[in-house]
This record gives sequence, structure tokens and C-alpha cells, in this order.
Amino acid sequence: MIQINENFPKLSDSYLFSEIAKKVNRYKEANPERNIISLGIGDVTQPLAPAVVAAMHKAVEEMGEASTMRGYAPESGYLFLKEAIIRNDFHQRGISLDVDEIFVSDGAKSDTGNIGDVLDAGNTVAITDPVYPVYLDTNAMAGRAGDCHNGRWSRIEYLPAVPENGFIPRIPDRKVDMIYLCYPNNPTGTTLTREQLKHWVDYALENKSLILFDAAYEAFITQEDIPHSIYEIEGATQVAIEFRSFSKTAGFTGVRCGYTVVPKALKAFDKTGKEYALNALWNRRQSTKFNGTAYIVQRAAEAVYSPEGKKQIRQTIDYYMENARIIKEGLNALGYTSYGGVNAPYIWVQTPAGISSWEFFDKLLNEYQIVCTPGVGFGASGEGFVRMTAFGTRDNTIEAIQRMGR
Ligand code: MLT
Repeated sequence: MIQINENFPKLSDSYLFSEIAKKVNRYKEANPERNIISLGIGDVTQPLAPAVVAAMHKAVEEMGEASTMRGYAPESGYLFLKEAIIRNDFHQRGISLDVDEIFVSDGAKSDTGNIGDVLDAGNTVAITDPVYPVYLDTNAMAGRAGDCHNGRWSRIEYLPAVPENGFIPRIPDRKVDMIYLCYPNNPTGTTLTREQLKHWVDYALENKSLILFDAAYEAFITQEDIPHSIYEIEGATQVAIEFRSFSKTAGFTGVRCGYTVVPKALKAFDKTGKEYALNALWNRRQSTKFNGTAYIVQRAAEAVYSPEGKKQIRQTIDYYMENARIIKEGLNALGYTSYGGVNAPYIWVQTPAGISSWEFFDKLLNEYQIVCTPGVGFGASGEGFVRMTAFGTRDNTIEAIQRMGR
């Protein structure tokens, strides 16, 4: 008899964003004449940068010629892209990494989910609350989260990030093996200073813990002194894996490309205490289960780092951050309290007193035809909030705020 992975039935019926999409589709079917504005899932609306499109065209032409076509890509990525990544994302910030510490992939969602393959199911896991649901769900699938009672997983250490603590999660008072940090944060849009991030690195060094650092939104940082990479902190290459994505930085949500940094200095242990380089384990995992990101896509990603690419991408990021400003200031003028939106494309909005996240979601959908993401979908500490994204078009962003003011 075939048996299932019994961790799956412990999960909620559907992934957060699938559940929201279903609700919105039901509303659309019942109200086909209504014009819905989505400030829900963080999906981009602006076209790819011309430099990226040109690079893709060129790569397509190459693939159509016998002398320049490419077959399987190297599993960890082409050297041309890895060198561009190292030079632009790290060396320019004074961080020294080697090309074989970079693993190009089809995006940070897959990598943050798959990384658990090389880690023991018995490891204890800490997540901030609210949190990007992929970290929690994938650990639940692997059996690392325990059992779920009333929305709380028995083996997870929850680290609330709420207005009362300035959205700064506390350092656990017990030893935790794996810690997920996402900064700039999805969903709250808040950041950690270098000093605050250093506390985590110090904790991990002291406890031989692993930090899984998701920096998918680093390109949206506007304030000086906010770290863009965890490797800006001394000692971090010994304790942290960093995930990066071109999805939001360069509008690649439909193109799919990201990368993961697994430093060679980063060690983990078996039950006897024997040391292993996670870089070698991840390489083994990727070369077995992944056949590389498409050549055309990697050429597109390389173009993100060209002089024109950088300029064009900056313009798009500035466009989205102007949307963030419009949402934030618009909501504040309407009397809402909101957080984030300054170093991240997400605005974390407090619902009016006494209204739950899902009630407010329904209200915005039914009364104003605006889609947001209910905060409680990201965890219990997200109750009483909704998340709005700045990735809409300018017209829709302005229109959404006007509708809420009516
Ligand atoms: C989000 O809305 O949180 C993101 O778009 C989801 C993702 O990147 O997978």
C-alpha cells in the first residue's frame, strides 16, 4: 500500500496566495463587471528592462544556431552570471566570495524551500512571526515543525515581530538550530540595522546555528546603513546562507531566476559531531535534482548588471517605491497606521480596531474591489494587519487609495 508523507495532511488546505486567488476568482465570477485592483501577491506589473529583453533576444538567436546553441547548463550557473553577481552584489560592498559559493536557480522560493533537503529533520527551527509562509510550510512538509494545534506548530520557535517590539524579533533564549530571517522583511516591510543583525550572527556563532537569510528585497533599500547582505556582518560566512532573487529586483516573476550563496566556510555536523561543508552538500543536492537555469534566462539576468540594465532597473524600482510612498501617505492621511514601505515594496497596515485581517480583506474586496493579503495568513502575530504591495501600476495604486477614501 502506498503511503503518503503524513506531514502533508497537517498543512492548511492550500498555500496562502492560492487561497486568496481562489477567493478573488469567486468574486470575479460573481461580479464580472467590477474592476478589481490587486495589491495582494507581490507580483510585478512593469515590463522587463530593455537591456534584459535585448539580452534574451540575443540568447534566443544563439540557441537557434548550431555553432552557438547550448545544451544543459552547469547546475550551479554559468560563470558569466556568477562573476557578474560576485562583482556587483558582493565585491562592491566589500564582501569577498568565490564563484563556487554561488548557486544560480529558478528563484528564491524554490531554494528557501529546498534547502531543507541537506538539513536533518530533527533540527529545531525559529521563524519570525509574521513570516513568508514558504519557510514554515516546507519545514512542516519535512516533519521539522511537529504538529499543528490552533495554527501553532509544536516544534517551531515563533519570534513575534510586532509594533510593540518595533518589529525586532527577540533572540531565542534556548538553542535553535535553524533560523529564518528575511530582511527587508516580507510581509512587514521593516528592516534590521547592522547592529541588530550582528546579534543574530553572534548568536549563531555561539550556538552553531544556521541562519537562512532571505534578501530578496535588498534592492528596495533606500536608507543608508541598512545591510543589503548578511555577509556585511563579520563572521556571517560561517553561519549563514543567503537567498537572492531577480523576481522583484528586475521583474523576473515570470522569467524565474535567483541565486543562493552557500559559503565554503559554513559547516554543519552529523550526529557524531563530524563536520561537513554545506556548500558540498548543496552542490550534491542541486546536481542531482536540478538541471540548471535556462541559458536565455541567465543571459537576461547577466544584463541586469550591465550599465544600461542597472539604470533601467533602478528606474523601475524607484517607480514601485513611489507607489509605496503614495500608499503609505494616502493611508496615513485616511487615519490608518502603517509600517514598512520605505526600504521594502510592502506596506503593513493595521486594520481598524476590532476588525480581523480576513474581515478587512473581505471589506476591501467587496466594497472597494481591492485585493490585499490578510496579515494573519503570515502567522498569528499578523492578525489585525493586512499587507499591501507597491508592485501595482501607478494608476491602479492611486485609484486604490482614492477608493478607500470614498
Ligand atoms: C509575496 O507576495 O509574498 C511574494 O510574491 C511571494 C513570492 O515571492 O513567492
